[in-house]
Amino acid sequence: MSTNGAAKLGTAVVTGASSGIGKVYAERLAKKGYDLLLVARRADRLDAIKHDLTQQYGIQVKTHVADLENAAQLENVAKAIAEDDQITLLVNNAGTIFNGLLDGVTVAQLYTLVNLNILALTRLAMAVLPGFKSRNRGALVNIGSVLGFDGYPYAPIYGGTKAYVQNLSLALQAELAGTEIVVQLVAPAATVSEIWDTSGFPLSNIDPKLVMSTEDMVDAALVGLERREKVTAPSVQDDHAVTKYLDAGSALFVASQQTGKPAPRYTN
Ligand SMILES: NC(=O)c1ccc[n+]([C@@H]2O[C@H](COP(=O)([O-])OP(=O)(O)OC[C@H]3O[C@@H](n4cnc5c(N)ncnc54)[C@H](OP(=O)(O)O)[C@@H]3O)[C@@H](O)[C@H]2O)c1
Repeated sequence: MSTNGAAKLGTAVVTGASSGIGKVYAERLAKKGYDLLLVARRADRLDAIKHDLTQQYGIQVKTHVADLENAAQLENVAKAIAEDDQITLLVNNAGTIFNGLLDGVTVAQLYTLVNLNILALTRLAMAVLPGFKSRNRGALVNIGSVLGFDGYPYAPIYGGTKAYVQNLSLALQAELAGTEIVVQLVAPAATVSEIWDTSGFPLSNIDPKLVMSTEDMVDAALVGLERREKVTAPSVQDDHAVTKYLDAGSALFVASQQTGKPAPRYTN
């Protein structure tokens, strides 16, 4: 256990901690005094991060090298998380994107997107929540995307996976209302990271004025977490836009529950 306050904060698990947003989460959480469990495939990267953060902040850092698309490796991570009662925070961050219209997506890419962005994220949430519930303490941060807010044609499966992350997060928030457990959806817009290198749409195609630094994104998300915000969309400037969007979704759901009959517009 670290000497600078982690006894109180506990251990944060960050998936996809070897680069980009996950790496900055690891750095920021280390600075706050969390011990860390870092998950990704690239062992060399995780080892270097572990070395730096241990030296700099005197915290405990464990690494778990795993391909979260692989069912057996995912189960190993899930088991490790479920058994560790020191875990107080899971940043469900590992994810990937392939840009392009649906007919440009390969079957292998479809499996990657669903297995990583949906299945692994959900499995790890399932692993951590029973412990959070029994201790009535913990935070689950799910990294979604602004592409989950709308049907954007150039990343249809990715957008769909992030809409799933949003819906799952909202459902868990409803389930856990009245507890001390926090579930936050973070919805970044374009943010500097390596994800763009393999996405089929390099970051250089985007107006730099519209791209957020990785540090700004994570810092804003952590402010949102401290405020127990349900949905944090750092690039959305209108304070009320997210609430209006969520309220519209809730109102539409309620409106769908008034009668079992088709609305008059569907009758001839
Ligand atoms: N950057 C943006 O503009 C943006 C915008 C909205 C949402 N997001 C979301 O932010 C999250 C983080 O992405 P990023 O932008 O920081 O991209 P990134 O730099 O490419 O980071 C992705 C992380 O996920 C890990 N990862 C990828 N495939 C994995 C697998 N099969 N098993 C285990 N780990 C895996 C990678 O590590 P290894 O390669 O070492 O496994 C890496 O650490 C993603 O969920 C992404 O959808 C990003």
